[in-house]
Amino acid sequence: MEKKTPNATGSTTQAGIPAVSDRNSLTVGNNGPIVLHDHHLIETMQHFNRMNVPERRPHAKGAGAFGTFEVTEDVSRFTKAGFLQPGASTEMLARFSTVAGELGSPDTWRDVRGFALKFYTEEGNFDMVGNNTPVFFVRDPMKFAHFIRSQKRLPNNGLRDGTMQWDFWTNNPESAHQVTYLMGQRGLPKTWRHMNGYSSHTYSLVNAEGERFWVKWHFMSNQGVEHLSNAEAERLAGANAEYHRQDLYESVEQGDYPSWDLYFQIMPYEEAKSYRFNPFDLTKIWSKKDYPRIKVGTMTLNRNPENFFAQIEQAAFSPANMVPGTGNSPDKMLLGRTFSYQDAQRYRIGTNFQQLPVNRPTNEVHSYNFEGNMWHEHTGARSVYAPNSFGDSWSDEEGPVENGWEADGALTRHAYDLHEDDDDFGQPGTLVREVFSNAQRDEFVTTVAGALDGVKEPVLSNAFQYWKNVDETIGQRIEDAVRANASGAAAPGMGNDADENSEGRIS
Ligand code: HEM
Repeated sequence: MEKKTPNATGSTTQAGIPAVSDRNSLTVGNNGPIVLHDHHLIETMQHFNRMNVPERRPHAKGAGAFGTFEVTEDVSRFTKAGFLQPGASTEMLARFSTVAGELGSPDTWRDVRGFALKFYTEEGNFDMVGNNTPVFFVRDPMKFAHFIRSQKRLPNNGLRDGTMQWDFWTNNPESAHQVTYLMGQRGLPKTWRHMNGYSSHTYSLVNAEGERFWVKWHFMSNQGVEHLSNAEAERLAGANAEYHRQDLYESVEQGDYPSWDLYFQIMPYEEAKSYRFNPFDLTKIWSKKDYPRIKVGTMTLNRNPENFFAQIEQAAFSPANMVPGTGNSPDKMLLGRTFSYQDAQRYRIGTNFQQLPVNRPTNEVHSYNFEGNMWHEHTGARSVYAPNSFGDSWSDEEGPVENGWEADGALTRHAYDLHEDDDDFGQPGTLVREVFSNAQRDEFVTTVAGALDGVKEPVLSNAFQYWKNVDETIGQRIEDAVRANASGAAAPGMGNDADENSEGRIS
């Protein structure tokens, strides 16, 4: 056979055997059928058919970069976690994402953005899986699957559906705070570099003396917080679906490393019981007057992935990954999440997803779980059970856990008990009235009216009432704007051209 290898070595099969040809299949005569024993052809087709792994159910579209987290202040009075001690420097990974869109969806559709971080600490991996908003749509994990389904697609025609989205939100009034953020500027960040990240949930911290604190994590962008207009975002969605992904990659590639300062809001353990808002209700923030931000350190993203699939697509973040000195809280959503993520990853990536280089901790793993699909580390001749009589170590703590809390009572299915100032519309009302500027309020009305375009009754009327509950004036303006859009007239504070009327659709 004529040898036409274009370089010295040629390619190989996946078993390392010379592949002979990447251009011509093996056939019976030049014009005859291909043969089944052309292993290289068969392997190429087989592997191609298996290239996809399931996309993440929510947060499918995203990208990320590696970096370093450095502690610049002293927060050891709140936590004994090694990576939060003064001067500590820890390698980390960040992944940013949209929530509802699928793998190929445009980066600039209106949506909440995921802000997931993995810190490779000496005490194991610590993950902070947050968003660019400080609250969430619901406060009971039972509702999460319903919520995500309502934002995705109808089962019959595969279409997104505004009526379904608004029906979910208006039937779950606790969503009002997060929907206000979503319809405001945070729903369209200019780039991932120009947004803050929040734990959203309340977590716990424990110091060396065993004292416990409640904490919310805030990552404040050093690039500033900037957003896109509806028109820019819509244009970019068509012109460059990868706009945010490309921006992050190119910034890091050019040495323009984005950074965020980490701050804690700390609540003394005992104050949770009497705080005017339930501090474990994920739809609420804590007032910064009550609990000011305390600086901790800075994270800087300075290294791009070398293999997107291996290091980003197969990255696995989980709120269950908490190291000594940190912990979760009675937030029911957070407790639900501690189960959900690794279950999703066992399905999405495989049983031993934690052995992949991007997910494996940098410290030694000594787990009694072993083997299963794709396991590749030799466990050696050690005991496979505990306790054992052969000196193989196991863990054996007893008594109250240091990062726990008191809980006692009959099993029940019930919403949280209300605290003094708890209601669903108070905080979103404050947000639109006191935090948004006049210009932001005008933009907000335009956006919500655009998002309500085509929504059917009775959901449309429910949506008007929902916004009137947040703020009577804003709700009325939204209703007027929607009615004006429907009749083709201009409402006060609204443009009336066709482009603007279609703005504000959510991803
Ligand atoms: C009960 C509530 C929730 C459940 C059951 C849930 C479940 C999930 C699941 C199954 C994934 C995909 C994981 C994977 O395949 O790797 C995911 C991704 C994600 N979730 Fe949630 N989620 C919940 C609430 C939240 C909240 C409140 C936040 C933010 C504060 C959040 C932020 C994220 C982020 C950022 C990702 C993407 C992680 C990545 O980049 O890989 N989720 N969620």
